[in-house]
Amino acid sequence: MPPPIDMLFRNNRNWAVRREELEPGYFRRLSAIQEPKYLWIGCSDSRVPANEIVGLDSGELFVHRNIANVVPHSDLNCISVIEYAINVLRVEHIIISGHYGCGGVRAALSCRSYGKIDHWLAYIKDVASQHRVELDAIETPEAKVDRLCELNVIHQVQNVARMPQVQNAWHRGQELQVHGWIYSLNDGLVRDLNVTITGPEALPDMLRLDVSSLNGVSPVVTPDPEAVAAAEAPPADSADPAAPEAGEAAEAQGQTTAEDRATVPLAPPSARDLAPETAEEREYAPVVSRDARSTAPETAEEREYVRVGSPTEEPGRAR
Ligand code: CO
Repeated sequence: MPPPIDMLFRNNRNWAVRREELEPGYFRRLSAIQEPKYLWIGCSDSRVPANEIVGLDSGELFVHRNIANVVPHSDLNCISVIEYAINVLRVEHIIISGHYGCGGVRAALSCRSYGKIDHWLAYIKDVASQHRVELDAIETPEAKVDRLCELNVIHQVQNVARMPQVQNAWHRGQELQVHGWIYSLNDGLVRDLNVTITGPEALPDMLRLDVSSLNGVSPVVTPDPEAVAAAEAPPADSADPAAPEAGEAAEAQGQTTAEDRATVPLAPPSARDLAPETAEEREYAPVVSRDARSTAPETAEEREYVRVGSPTEEPGRAR
């Protein structure tokens, strides 16, 4: 039977007393520093206590855990942990550690639907489908799960290496290694899958990012003499009603700061540059050449929305 929840507080007090007895001043010292050199990305499984299995103390391991140790490209939680670990804590090693017999991986191998978690397991199903031939050739279900546990770790190592935060760290010369490990619940041992990535050269060309702009170092742009001449000449079609939109369109393309304009001497597009040429472009044209008339409310419903949705126009709401 699990202990009653009050017991957890009692346990905690006992632990804190014992810890302080073993090492007087322990908590005072710990509260002043957090300088882990390792980020551990592992499974939420209660049988895989990260610090404990690698013999590291509090303050020595930065930890992120989720079901089946997945690093999706757009998981804001995981991305934030990784970015903080790299940019602020300056960790030198990111360890993706799976474990054999992982329930999340097992669920991903089955066809049963679990509700919302299916969306999360889909990342592992993607890995399984990429290695379908190899997995199909494995006879026992348990061995199949274990192999997918390994393959999942290998893919997550690659996902981490592909992140702009990681590639940016390498670009500025920061030491950073991404490791793939796997833990066995049966013997308590961690095994290295030997898939460590130490720099962008391990990635295929198409997965390497040009991260120079992330460092505030704009890539060198050699101005095209013809484009510069065209920019200096008055636009031939300045009478076109769409012309005032050109500056806005340039801003929308990201040339918003003075620094950008100084380092990227691109001519603002003329109205003619922006005029749609193909049928597909004409489809999008209303967005580019939008004028006040096209955004004015037309129906009674739209007018109502504009009125209610503009508090500054509503008397008594100005403050
Ligand atoms: Co697990």
